[in-house]
Amino acid sequence: MSETASPIVIAVDGPAAAGKGTLARRLAARYGLRHLDTGLSYRATAKALLDAGLALDDEAVAARMARALDLSNLDRVVLSAHDIGEAASKVAVMPDVRRALVEAQRDFAAIAPGAVLDGRDIGTVVCPDALIKFYVTASPAVRARRRHDEIRGKGGQADMAGILADIERRDARDMERTDSPLRPAANAHLLDTTEMGIETAFETARVLVDAALER
Ligand code: C5P
Repeated sequence: MSETASPIVIAVDGPAAAGKGTLARRLAARYGLRHLDTGLSYRATAKALLDAGLALDDEAVAARMARALDLSNLDRVVLSAHDIGEAASKVAVMPDVRRALVEAQRDFAAIAPGAVLDGRDIGTVVCPDALIKFYVTASPAVRARRRHDEIRGKGGQADMAGILADIERRDARDMERTDSPLRPAANAHLLDTTEMGIETAFETARVLVDAALER
């Protein structure tokens, strides 16, 4: 990769707990690219509002919080809490919040040598010209099981029925919003991880990225 080459962008989209974060991290490590979990930026905006005791639906205030974020300094451990994901999907419906975060995400992607971005609208809105796009999905039951095991693994309390209901509610909010709804880009490669392990998903993606880099 020469310094003058245009940045390489790999877009990874999909619903909650489908495995896109793990896949994106693995791809970034494999190709020496930077990684941005764009969900963290929506989570950080929501958390800033919650911490300040402010409403989640005041668009002007939320957009101001979004513009003040430093994307290079988001605390994954704190932000990964399950209920912050729910709050994030509420702030994510507001166009002014999305505008602020998308601008920062594009700036991140534009820095050489490029980046792997994962989220809901990377292939459709943030980086429509990405070198290659993946849409990672899995059945709601399998995603709920993964989220449940992850929470339990960290010593937290979780009940399957509640988590499944949260995931279905969040899917609906993300897919039905007017601005940048969650959907596969027309030219995205679909990876269904319901039965495929992460290693198989990564190998499948790697072969496709290698082919795209050769073109
Ligand atoms: O991926 P994660 O679960 O961390 O995302 C939290 C929420 O942020 C999602 O449910 C979605 O509403 C929102 N989001 C988004 N666009 C992105 C990334 C996340 O709307 N690119």
